[in-house]
Amino acid sequence: MADEIKTVAVLTSGGDAPGMNAAIRSVVRTAISRGLKVKGIKKGYNGLLNEDIIDMQPRNVSDIIQRGGTILGTARCLEFKKAEYQKKGAEICRKHGIDGIVVIGGDGSYRGAQALSRLGINTVGVPGTIDLDIACTDYTIGFDTAVNTAMEAIDKVKDTSSSHERCSIIEVMGRNAGYIALWCGIANGAEDVLLPEKYDFNEQEIINHIIESRKKGKTHHLIINAEGIGHSTSMARRIEAATGVETRATILGYMQRGGNPTAMDRYYASIMGAYAVDIMLQGKTNRVVGYRNGVFTDFDIEDALKMQKNIDEYQFEVAHLLTV
Ligand code: ADP
Ligand code: F6P
Repeated sequence: MADEIKTVAVLTSGGDAPGMNAAIRSVVRTAISRGLKVKGIKKGYNGLLNEDIIDMQPRNVSDIIQRGGTILGTARCLEFKKAEYQKKGAEICRKHGIDGIVVIGGDGSYRGAQALSRLGINTVGVPGTIDLDIACTDYTIGFDTAVNTAMEAIDKVKDTSSSHERCSIIEVMGRNAGYIALWCGIANGAEDVLLPEKYDFNEQEIINHIIESRKKGKTHHLIINAEGIGHSTSMARRIEAATGVETRATILGYMQRGGNPTAMDRYYASIMGAYAVDIMLQGKTNRVVGYRNGVFTDFDIEDALKMQKNIDEYQFEVAHLLTV
């Protein structure tokens, strides 16, 4: 651990998420307010290894709180999983006078932060991912915007699906987690919600549900399918063949990661960015910021990575109860 923090750096890593800019702004301005120097590392751990490092002033983060993406750029840097590159990263930090790094990203990014912390660079992670798949926190930056973007797109598909009396399978992002799918399932009033954590690949059950719904007079059948299950296009073909109901697949894709962050994402990102700087100033390292039961808190990265997160049974049940 560095004796005294004089310079902190900030980087964004892994998939980008709306609200990352608000978090960068908060890290930069909090650190400067506390009398620190701040550097921005571009393109995640790639930028660290390539010494793509810039000085950050309060004005560098003007007018970005409302913008999607990340002004620092992001990347997946596979080299950084190797000890030799982690060592090189720590040496580059020392060369640039960087005592600590705030890493905005997901679980993978925290492993990189953990490696740097073991090599004497103070690190604090901030949860930035649309997937909401970080176990130690109830909230991840980007989820709220992504789920609202997906919800609006699904409303539009639902309009045309109803007009044509079709079945629609809409695939949403989330990697191996079903949170975006669950939230859209409820918010869009879907007839079926398929989550990687729950789906038993019983397609016949979905087919029977569509046939039953038709008999009851429903003019559309909306199925939200999570990316972690995938195969929406082939699923649509099989369902159409089995039910005789015209079925279309729509994969929403990267649109879910873009766009202006919602107030909620800006707000949480701003608090979490400031919190990360402040706990680093208290001498903490190898930590990740979380929001749990209404309070902002922090966890040891190792402990955080061991935690498990499951889909809430009751919420999943409600998603189905409401489709009668
Ligand atoms: P996320 O941070 O959103 O989970 P990734 O899993 O893609 O995204 O991880 C982002 C980056 O974090 C990787 O490209 C790599 O640079 C770094 N990273 C991931 N796993 C490790 C690891 N085991 N050790 C060191 N760095 C890692
Ligand atoms: O983690 C965010 C996310 O958008 C996931 O939902 C998705 O599985 C993944 O990133 C896609 O990553 P990439 O940008 O590398 O295609």
